[in-house]
Amino acid sequence: MTRKKVLVTGGAGFIGGNFVQYMIEKYPEYEIYNLDGLTYAGDLTKHRGIETKDNYHFIKADIVDYEIIIPLFEKHKFDYIIHFAAESHVDRSITDPGVFVRTNVVGTQVLLEAAKKIGITKFVHVSTDEVYGELDFDPTTFFTEDTPLQPNSPYSASKASSDLLVRAYHHTYGLPINITRCSNNYGPYHFPEKLIPLTISRLLNEEKIPIYGDGQNIRDWLHVFDHCVAIDLVLHEGVNGEVYNVGGHNERTNLEVVKTIIHSLGKSEELIEFVTDRLGHDKRYAIDPTKLEQLGWKPTYTFETGIAQTIQWYIDNNAWWEQIISGQYQKYFDKQYSLEILKK
Ligand code: NAD
Ligand code: TYD
Repeated sequence: MTRKKVLVTGGAGFIGGNFVQYMIEKYPEYEIYNLDGLTYAGDLTKHRGIETKDNYHFIKADIVDYEIIIPLFEKHKFDYIIHFAAESHVDRSITDPGVFVRTNVVGTQVLLEAAKKIGITKFVHVSTDEVYGELDFDPTTFFTEDTPLQPNSPYSASKASSDLLVRAYHHTYGLPINITRCSNNYGPYHFPEKLIPLTISRLLNEEKIPIYGDGQNIRDWLHVFDHCVAIDLVLHEGVNGEVYNVGGHNERTNLEVVKTIIHSLGKSEELIEFVTDRLGHDKRYAIDPTKLEQLGWKPTYTFETGIAQTIQWYIDNNAWWEQIISGQYQKYFDKQYSLEILKK
């Protein structure tokens, strides 16, 4: 029997990286191809434990590069594609939107075209709840799969555009697809520019934590492992053409998240620094995961167990995030927060 070929794009990043490791462990009978362009967010050191496995393959490529991607697909004839590769940070999209359109919109279209040419079995497009825009603070309202797309940031607008292209390739050409829209992830190998790893890594170094605005914005946090399980389920059981929201009802204000980490590490709340709000800052995200639960998904982590596991992981793996924050990242941080936090 020929082994199924699974292409994971963005498998050197946070969620894609966790997904590659999850799949290698769970499906030794699959060939896993990790295709990644290795931008600032891509890092292969996380895969030291799996890179010698026979069924793990790494391909360095830019998903926008049609001349490389099409022949690659024709050569390997992948069965499944799980598409994570993207520019993923809202703050960066505010200062440099163009690269988000390039990778998230054009890159996705190139992959769809390649998938159409070889006739894949399933294309899973990993999207975000941010395409729905924002909710107000009424705790009884949630994003469902039928919520209209109303993206507010250049990041979410580029992701919504890619979702629409995936939808159109299904409708027009019959490409077998699913779209997943997940809430904010956290967990091992989360790049330290995002709120939770930024908070943990800076607290461990006794540094100030920048909170945008009044810290009352709400995010719905999901441990990355539970997201990986959801994507695996959608890949194998998802109904062709359907969208699935992924979230575990873990709504917290940003201030609550930061205080939880501060208390867990035994640090002082005086390390909190309220800084100028993000432009166009979405108030609240919250997912209704009923449709995915009906497919058989159930999260394993609560926010309390997940954040404890994650904090411990950052303590145990300081070498991983220290090598990241010592490089190019420092320049980004200085630019993003320079006027406020650095001068204190
Ligand atoms: P990430 O920024 O950690 O990783 C992105 C990866 O994509 C990196 O390895 C990078 O090198 C690669 N990449 C970027 N541009 C590329 C290009 N042009 N060609 C090839 N590779 C390229 O992102 P993440 O947080 O792991 O997010 C993965 C996906 O999940 C994204 O599509 C994102 O929109 C979605 N998502 C993220 C979250 C979250 O909380 N992080 C929540 C919901 C959905
Ligand atoms: P982030 O981790 O960037 O994810 P997203 O913007 O995709 O939700 O931010 C999570 C929340 O934390 C968001 O409301 C913005 C806020 N935030 C801060 O208050 N300070 C920071 O330094 C960062 C990076 C985020």
